[in-house]
Amino acid sequence: MAIARSITSFMFFLLISSNSVNSSVLAQATTAKFTFIGFKGNQTEIQTEGASEIQHENGLLRLTNRNQNVTGTAFYRKPIRLRNFTNSSDIKVCSFSTSFVFVIIPSSPGTGGFGFTFTLSPTPNRPGAESAQYLGLLNRTNNGNASNHVFAVEFDTVQGFKDGADRRGNHIGLNFNNLSSDVQEPLIYYDTEDRKEDFQLESGEPIQVHVNYDGPSETLNVTIYPTRLEFKPKKPLISRRVSELSEILEDEMYVGFTAATGKDQSSAHYVMGWSFSSCGENPMADWLDPSKLPLPPRLSNKKGYDSQVIALIVALSIVTLVLLVLLFIFVMYKRRIQEEDTLEDWEIDYPHRFRYRDLYLATKKFKEKNFFLADWVMEFHTNGGILSAVDQKLGSSFNGREAKLALIVGLLCCHQKPTYRPSMRMVLRYLNGEDQNVPQIDGNWGFSDSSRDDLKTNVVGYVSSDRASSSNTFSSFSEVSSSSIVSGR
Ligand SMILES: *[C@@H]1O[C@H](CO)[C@@H](O)[C@H](O)[C@H]1NC(C)=O
Ligand SMILES: *[C@@H]1O[C@H](CO)[C@@H](O)[C@H](O)[C@H]1NC(C)=O
Ligand SMILES: *[C@@H]1O[C@H](CO)[C@@H](O)[C@H](O)[C@H]1NC(C)=O
Ligand SMILES: *[C@@H]1O[C@H](CO)[C@@H](O)[C@H](O)[C@H]1NC(C)=O
Ligand SMILES: *[C@@H]1O[C@H](CO)[C@@H](O)[C@H](O)[C@H]1NC(C)=O
Ligand SMILES: *[C@@H]1O[C@H](CO)[C@@H](O)[C@H](O)[C@H]1NC(C)=O
Ligand SMILES: *[C@@H]1O[C@H](CO)[C@@H](O)[C@H](O)[C@H]1NC(C)=O
Ligand SMILES: *[C@@H]1O[C@H](CO)[C@@H](O)[C@H](O)[C@H]1NC(C)=O
Repeated sequence: MAIARSITSFMFFLLISSNSVNSSVLAQATTAKFTFIGFKGNQTEIQTEGASEIQHENGLLRLTNRNQNVTGTAFYRKPIRLRNFTNSSDIKVCSFSTSFVFVIIPSSPGTGGFGFTFTLSPTPNRPGAESAQYLGLLNRTNNGNASNHVFAVEFDTVQGFKDGADRRGNHIGLNFNNLSSDVQEPLIYYDTEDRKEDFQLESGEPIQVHVNYDGPSETLNVTIYPTRLEFKPKKPLISRRVSELSEILEDEMYVGFTAATGKDQSSAHYVMGWSFSSCGENPMADWLDPSKLPLPPRLSNKKGYDSQVIALIVALSIVTLVLLVLLFIFVMYKRRIQEEDTLEDWEIDYPHRFRYRDLYLATKKFKEKNFFLADWVMEFHTNGGILSAVDQKLGSSFNGREAKLALIVGLLCCHQKPTYRPSMRMVLRYLNGEDQNVPQIDGNWGFSDSSRDDLKTNVVGYVSSDRASSSNTFSSFSEVSSSSIVSGR
């Protein structure tokens, strides 16, 4: 009897305890809610594996870096009950709602890949999962197997799944145990007037996602849009009945992200913030205010460039530098040539500077004794033929009166006594004909008689050389006359 009593009391105890376990499980099923505004200080809440990590410096959850052929997973550490009661003939999946903001930074524009997923998984990691088109979620042997029990929303930047998985892609899809998406939509959002606007996953701009599942109607909605919009589009990109979920999900699931890069196609995938809520009447994940989230990494970060690209950049830089140096030398050379030899247009008709070389030759290396241009002109003046100083090559194509005036004013400006030299204002008045009373040049004008003696021979030589245009002895004079003495007009 005693034994029977103890057995019944033991069984009673068992009943009570199993009852209490059951009620605690049911209580759990009604509540699951969390919000991460950035992930700083949340290392213990998130289980990261592979290339994934929570970055200390900015609090971003990085799923993959830009290395090639890597995978990374990040799951909320605690399992979430998504089925409230196990009844093989009447399985109901809890409603759930999640929202997150992500950013994808391609290693360089057009070579990003492969993508990432929001995943419901029976494990808080994905052992054996492969990179590239398997997105760190599955591998070639278990892909499509119903024993996987995984559901994922994929954000794919490479089109195609089988061997031809190398075209650019920009879509989201729904994956049921199988990475060939049953549902696939190119990336757009509906604006306030219900027009489709497309945008790029791997643009480097933050993008917000809402995934809402309604248990009773088995409807799944996915809405995705760039956070810069500052409004949530009313119409979801995907809205459909997904009865598969009740077969795929287990009572408890882990929620999180998987990501992968491929060969020559790699992007860094970041989650900036994440909220989740499940079961209960109408679970709604917390709204994530983009302005409160950590700043996204910058696109200009060059970390992911591979060595070939760097080599190309370096080579191009060197070539550009060499070309610039050559251009600089050429420009400087041209400028020197111009400064040396080119008279500007106005200088041909008006008084102009003399080239150093001309003066050098004309003055026979600046030996004072040898030559004064003014003395030379004065010589003509005293002989009454000042116009002889004009370059013979001009022929008769000049105004004799003006040339004579200019030469006389020029002589006045060279007067031995500075007080006799006219002011610039007077010079202009003389030349403009406003003042006809140009002073006479008196006998005290000059300095050196010796130079004038020398001059005579030179002048003779000049005249003859210009007529014969051959004698080497006077070639220097020819040069002076042909270019510089033009100024004497
Ligand atoms: C994440 O960490 C912050 C700072 O430690 C904390 O305030 C917050 O509650 C954590 N979030 C979650 C969901 O655990
Ligand atoms: C990528 O990684 C897989 C293992 O996950 C390896 O079998 C494959 O050879 C790698 N491919 C490249 C191109 O590195
Ligand atoms: C379990 O799910 C059913 C159907 O959705 C619902 O009627 C019921 O209230 C749920 N029970 C608990 C304990 O949440
Ligand atoms: C399972 O659900 C069906 C339909 O709602 C119900 O008839 C049946 O009694 C349930 N079975 C159990 C074991 O609760
Ligand atoms: C694929 O994944 C399964 C399950 O994680 C694992 O058992 C299997 O070894 C993996 N296969 C390959 C080829 O990695
Ligand atoms: C995966 O899905 C694709 C497309 O729905 C299908 O063709 C393929 O057979 C599936 N794979 C498996 C192993 O079920
Ligand atoms: C699915 O996976 C299970 C367990 O991993 C395995 O026994 C079964 O053969 C697989 N089915 C297929 C079609 O590969
Ligand atoms: C899904 O979207 C449809 C159409 O916009 C809406 O009627 C429905 O209430 C939404 N369901 C959920 C769970 O958000």
